[in-house]
Amino acid sequence: MKASAPGKIILFGEHAVVYNRPALAVPVDQAQVEVEVTDSDKSGVWIDAPMVELHGELSTLPDDHPIAAVILKLFQHLGISQHPNILLTIRSTIPVAAGLGSGAAVSVAMFRALSSYLSHPLSDEQVNGLVFEIEKLHHGTPSGIDNTVITYNKPVFYMKHKPVETFTCGKPFTIVIGDTGVPAPTKESVGDVRRLWLHNENRFEEMFNEIAQISTMARRFIETGHPEHLGELMDQNQEFLKQMTVSSPELDVLIYAARRAGALGAKLSGGGRGGNMIALVDQAAAESVAASLTSAGAKRTIITEIK
Ligand code: PMV
Repeated sequence: MKASAPGKIILFGEHAVVYNRPALAVPVDQAQVEVEVTDSDKSGVWIDAPMVELHGELSTLPDDHPIAAVILKLFQHLGISQHPNILLTIRSTIPVAAGLGSGAAVSVAMFRALSSYLSHPLSDEQVNGLVFEIEKLHHGTPSGIDNTVITYNKPVFYMKHKPVETFTCGKPFTIVIGDTGVPAPTKESVGDVRRLWLHNENRFEEMFNEIAQISTMARRFIETGHPEHLGELMDQNQEFLKQMTVSSPELDVLIYAARRAGALGAKLSGGGRGGNMIALVDQAAAESVAASLTSAGAKRTIITEIK
């Protein structure tokens, strides 16, 4: 039994989304997790996950190991006490800790492959809820945006505690993603923003309101087929992220390089302090912006069409 899940980028509204403001996120098909579950002649639940250098049996892992936690959560959800003899093979082209949702994508693909193998396929709602539980184990207070966009595999306008809203693009547009190669410490940046918010609630609430307006306007431009206006909104969103202290010298260098190379706008994407930045480009300029990012130090670039 096989299942796959895409990566994701946040286009607008990271961090503000933790404070109940809307954010926009889209799936990225160029980065994928694939999970296969097969019968095994060895006893127990064997896991082969080369991207995290893991090959071992479930009972040798701590219960809170990100991969073990998914399996144990599913067994508990389905009331399975006798572990089956299986091999789970996990392959991923999503870089870890880069803001591309690798953790949530591994969880989504695992829940789907394993539940189908066990003849109890889960609905999207069930997958989304279970993956959110796993995200909480590892990230403290996640907003839930990663599990939502990756589970539904569609552009989402996400607000905590609100029904999931997916949306469609009036006209496709091109985003270049540039990876700083620096791990993004999302838990730490979310914690730092919380401390700053506690010290200066009025100022941060105002910034979050401005970002909420940016995300709302961006959704309208995307839906009505005017993605060319997103560049300016990305630049504005980036200014607020800088004020929140979640940009970094490496991100700033790449964002500057993208703008110089002709991008219509650029910002960090995800928790920040590392991980990825994104740039809106005319399709014809995508390769040259990606090349400029590489020259400026990007460890990897992805060109993706948002449809
Ligand atoms: O670093 P990522 O891609 O997991 O994104 C984090 C996004 C935040 O808004 C900073 C946190 C959250 O839980 O939404």
